Amino acid sequence: MAITQWKTFLFPYEQAVNELKVKFKSIRTELRRKNDYSPVEFVTGRVKEINSILEKVNKYDIPIDRIEYELEDIAGIRIMCQFVDDIWTVINIIRERKDMQIVYEKDYVTNVKESGYRSYHIVIKYPVNMSTGLKMILAEIQIRTLAMNFWATIEHSLNYKYRKDLPEDVRERLKNAAHAAYKLDEEMRIIKGEIMDAQKLFEIKSSLVTRISDNILALTNLGKHIEAARYREQLNRFLENGEVIDLTNLLSSTEKTLTMYKHRSY
Ligand code: GTP
Ligand code: MG
Repeated sequence: MAITQWKTFLFPYEQAVNELKVKFKSIRTELRRKNDYSPVEFVTGRVKEINSILEKVNKYDIPIDRIEYELEDIAGIRIMCQFVDDIWTVINIIRERKDMQIVYEKDYVTNVKESGYRSYHIVIKYPVNMSTGLKMILAEIQIRTLAMNFWATIEHSLNYKYRKDLPEDVRERLKNAAHAAYKLDEEMRIIKGEIMDAQKLFEIKSSLVTRISDNILALTNLGKHIEAARYREQLNRFLENGEVIDLTNLLSSTEKTLTMYKHRSY
């Protein structure tokens, strides 16, 4: 294929990579805007270099007119997650989508490769709207944690440097590094629970504080300035180091006082 033919051939793949990057990034943007947790940390994408395509075509003896059906990773998307269980959330999001069709999945997260490689791969069919009409292309999505990505990036560059003839001691160290990356994901999994507990506690407390503040304001509006000042002082104290139980008690005190004055004024 001449270079202009390659450019024409690769154009829909470029468009697909651009569109898919926007789509997966916007999952993050949407959730973050709602102050929700995002299973997507960041997204990258690339179109395979012509050199690498030719290398693979030669390796597997693929006829030129079969490239688009046989090479599944000409369009490649990588989704990085903070935690391992975010990977399963992302997989389920992809499975539910109507704008991409899953061809097959490969689970190297559960079934770690001999090299130590871990990632979840999903090959999809994706429609690209060209000037000539709809074109279906194949794309490979790799989903992994930051730790898995770190390892895979280093391992890939070493393999590239040594061209498969990795010295035995380097190979051994890479295995150790893969194990360390696995341990890192395990440690983070435990911390994730702690973070979520802390966030939940924060939400409970801030909702109590809002309700207490509303009651103090209502007392002020009823002209009960002395009570309002007393409660405000207590609330200020609890804001520093109050427990949920302190705030719950304060809320019910303000409610009782408020009910009492409301009834009297009728
Ligand atoms: P391909 O011919 O590359 O498709 O090989 P395959 O079909 O045996 O492997 P698979 O499709 O499951 O994985 C392909 C992609 O996963 C590669 O292009 C890499 O990006 C990544 N990958 C797979 N194994 C390794 C590995 O051991 N190390 C690293 N760094 N990446 C890997
Ligand atoms: Mg493959």
